[in-house]
This record gives sequence, C-alpha cells and structure tokens, in this order.
Amino acid sequence: MSQTATSQEELKKLVAQAALNYVIPGEYLGVGTGSTVNQFIDALAASAIVIKGAVSSSLASTARMQALGIPVVDLAQVERMSVYIDGADEIDPKGCMVKGGGAALTREKIVAAQADQFVCIADASKRVEVLGAFPLPVETIPMAAPEIMRRFKAMGAVATLRNTGGQPLVTDNGQFLLDVKGLSITDPLGFENAVSQWPGVVTVGVFAHQHAHVCLLGTTQGVQTIVY
Ligand code: 5RP
Repeated sequence: MSQTATSQEELKKLVAQAALNYVIPGEYLGVGTGSTVNQFIDALAASAIVIKGAVSSSLASTARMQALGIPVVDLAQVERMSVYIDGADEIDPKGCMVKGGGAALTREKIVAAQADQFVCIADASKRVEVLGAFPLPVETIPMAAPEIMRRFKAMGAVATLRNTGGQPLVTDNGQFLLDVKGLSITDPLGFENAVSQWPGVVTVGVFAHQHAHVCLLGTTQGVQTIVY
C-alpha cells in the first residue's frame, strides 16, 4: 500500500507517542534529531513525564527542547543513559541503520554510544533488507573530502558534497558532509569499521556498532515493536 505524505506524518506521530513508554522518569534521556524525533520531543513536552535532563544530538533538537521547556544538559555531565531515542533513514533486519539525513550523525553516534538501549522510531518506509538505497551520509574534515570521494568512486559508488544555499553544508561540528549513492552494504559492521579508518572521515552514517536494540515501526496496522 502506498503511503501519502500525510499518512507518513501520522505514522511518525504514532511511533513518537509509543516511544514515551521507554522514557524513564527522573533519568537522563538521549534525544536524536529529525522530523520523527521532533514529533517525539513535542509528545514528551505535552506529557506529564519529568526527566532529569535530555542529552541532545544537535543544535536543532536542543533549540526545540528548550523552546518547549525540556531541560537540556551537556553530555559531559552524564556518564551513562539508559535510553537513547532517535530516527533512522534505513534500518535492516538486524537493527543496523543508516543515519545522518538530518546531518547530525556524529553527535547522534556519540550520544548513542553512551546509552544502554537505542530505541529507533521510524515509519515503515525505513525498513530495508540491505542498507544503501538511501544516500549514505559521511561527515568529513573539509580538506579530506576530495580523496574520500575518490575512494568511494573506486568502490563503484558516487559521493557528492551536500550543499545548502549553493554552499557546502557545514555541520554542527564545523565539518562537511558527503552523500554516497550506489552502495549495497551487506556487512554493515565491516563497512563501518573500514570507512571509519579512512583519514579525514569524522563519522560514517552506518550505525552497526550503535545499532538499534528496539525499533518502533509505524505501519498502517499500528506500531510494530521489533527487538534485536
Ligand atoms: C538525522 C538522522 C535522522 O534520524 C534521520 O535522518 C531520520 O530523519 P526523519 O525522522 O526526519 O525521517 O539521522 O541526522
């Protein structure tokens, strides 16, 4: 069944609401970035749940939470979190993901790595058998971008610099972002390990080490809970 833009929004709201069940009152919570997470932030603000503080993965999520009265704390103040809630651009049958469509992959990976449980919230269109159809975001040090693009070309893929307003997009960390098309990532862990070693790569948008532990998938039949 094809989904209209409106129904996809409804599915995002549905999983955002379901994610409230994973929030532990009185604790720190890791919060991701993106349109699905925005729905989650709105749902959290509207709920009666009081958290100790949110560790944010982007300036955009920080601004949204602060505007809604959710306390945001620096990651430096927090050693571990029980839960990190975030969206994904793709999620495979093992819970490995492609992330970074919203350019926040580096901070997302850092915060996720300090959480015990990654709860992915996504509409059903994000579920794939093999990662790679969505252009893979790779955050890079600017001077390394041309060589990293050549390395992807040698793999048979095409990397392009993400632009905004005719200029290279600069991430929250002051770096550039490549989007890589033409990949079929059958070994997410191996791929993440390999590309992460390339000089100048800040973060590759494959989340295999920081894979999801639970996915709340919004389907036309309701929220499906998948545990990995
Ligand atoms: C941001 C991300 C997002 O989680 C991902 O792009 C999904 O976004 P959305 O919920 O808008 O579909 O990784 O860097």
